[in-house]
Amino acid sequence: MITFEEILYWLREKSPERLNELWRWADRTRQEQVGDAIHLRGLVELSNHCRRNCLYCGIRASHKTVSRYRLTLEEVLECAKKAADFHYGTLVIQAGEDLKFDEAFITEMIREIKARYPLAITLSLGERSESEWIRWHEAGANRYLLRFETSNNLLFRAIHPVSPDSGGRFGDRIAMLKTLREIGYEIGSGVMIGIPGQSVTDLACDIDLFRQLDLDMIGCGPFLPHPETPLGNLRQDGNEWVSRILDQNGLPAFRFPVAEEPVTGTNEMTFKVYALTRLVCPQANIPSTTAVVTLGGKEGRQNGLCRGANVIMPNLTPTKYRALYEIYPDKSASFESAEETHQKALENIRAIGRFPGSGPGGRVRGDQKEEMPKI
Ligand code: 5AD
Repeated sequence: MITFEEILYWLREKSPERLNELWRWADRTRQEQVGDAIHLRGLVELSNHCRRNCLYCGIRASHKTVSRYRLTLEEVLECAKKAADFHYGTLVIQAGEDLKFDEAFITEMIREIKARYPLAITLSLGERSESEWIRWHEAGANRYLLRFETSNNLLFRAIHPVSPDSGGRFGDRIAMLKTLREIGYEIGSGVMIGIPGQSVTDLACDIDLFRQLDLDMIGCGPFLPHPETPLGNLRQDGNEWVSRILDQNGLPAFRFPVAEEPVTGTNEMTFKVYALTRLVCPQANIPSTTAVVTLGGKEGRQNGLCRGANVIMPNLTPTKYRALYEIYPDKSASFESAEETHQKALENIRAIGRFPGSGPGGRVRGDQKEEMPKI
């Protein structure tokens, strides 16, 4: 079992030859534990309304110039049909923390999708109440994603400001993930890589926490500065990062010590996280995320899949809404149709000699990996 010190060692490693060993180790582990199938999860960005004010996110409540949208139930069902037509096993429904999508709407949406299509459903709707989570699970939702973003509590609080009109206090996401698991969901989490103020030790603690939580799904990507957000507008003042954007009290919205050993939000650092995550959670589902594609194109996605990842999440959101779900700038696939995004995903899979997974592609346990279909 890889130790905390070894995780730190690899996060610090710079030599390309040594890193090749890490990539090979992770890829071999991925192959042995979950096989060569790449699971496709159709992503539906349900709403870009959000009550929160996370300092890094382009759809934060204070970002007034974004046009806000909500999909109708009919539009969601069209996305679900596409997912089924493309033979995806899972639909991932993601949104800002939008309470207009209340318990009843989401419950009906889940029931309608389940009644029509053989899809597993993953929800990614933020911090909601336990009773909502229970109802949605009863209605047929299978998995829940809630990134904890960073295991450094001080940094978490610095980038997730609390105000009465933005949902009040953030909950203890580690406790929430445990609750979600008890309810019966497969649970997913993850972090951003290269948050200002994040240290290499923080990142090693993040990976160690993935292991402690025994996560079923782990999605991570580089932090990508959005110019319209407080974290996208920083200056360094001595040993501190200070935002040029002010909060409602007229103070810099972010002020945090520069880490002694900062994490750089590069794809290489992200691949180290994918590889180490595969080693600590060998049977987890790990996507090569949109943020990696945004930084490194198809090569980025393919490298992710050869360094620990085994999942792609092609976007199914109707094209007219995609660019509005701008959590960071120039998000990959913002101007494509679902068909184009789908074809690119298949090309990426073929290019690295793997095959699309069949069925829901839930968390593997024991020795149940999928073999390449014989033709
Ligand atoms: N850069 C990178 N990732 C971001 N996310 C939100 N904003 C950014 C950004 N500027 C990530 C968060 C969130 C997920 C949906 O997108 O980790 O949980």
